Amino acid sequence: MLFYKPALLATVLALFAGVSAAPVSGTELEARVGPSGSVIFPPGNTKFVNLGGTGDLHIQYQRVNQTLSGNRGPAWTVGVDLFLEDPTGRQASFPICSDLRANPINAAVIDAHFVPPVGACGTYNLVFQEHQFYLGQVISFRAAAPYVSITCGPIQ
Ligand SMILES: *[C@@H]1O[C@H](CO)[C@@H](O)[C@H](O)[C@H]1NC(C)=O
Repeated sequence: MLFYKPALLATVLALFAGVSAAPVSGTELEARVGPSGSVIFPPGNTKFVNLGGTGDLHIQYQRVNQTLSGNRGPAWTVGVDLFLEDPTGRQASFPICSDLRANPINAAVIDAHFVPPVGACGTYNLVFQEHQFYLGQVISFRAAAPYVSITCGPIQ
């Protein structure tokens, strides 16, 4: 049975039409948002353990450092913000860090360890928000968000 009013149905169909529009080519996408760095670690579904605030949340992020096609100058990852986001939206996000750079700052990989935030126990999207030098300014975008779980417990 269809309870949708025709106008709503038309809107829904239009939305689907928008989603299924021709795929954006790599070059077009790059022109809009820039190249993106990528997460080396953790892969999706990684399980972390945090016993009494002694846990180790390890991250490795492959930076961008390249020359843009068509003489448009360099693009390079400046740093990343990290936070844990509840995929259900029920819990507020847990910030981990802002503007984390590589060491040394031009190293290919940002590699760091954190104690998971207090109270972050469960499953989360580990969000990597990249800040990138691109076309002469710093842009910011959500680059990746692997799914992780954190099991909490007392010190053993
Ligand atoms: C990009 O890579 C080049 C060549 O390895 C290096 O000299 C330069 O410092 C790097 N730049 C950044 C911003 O990482």
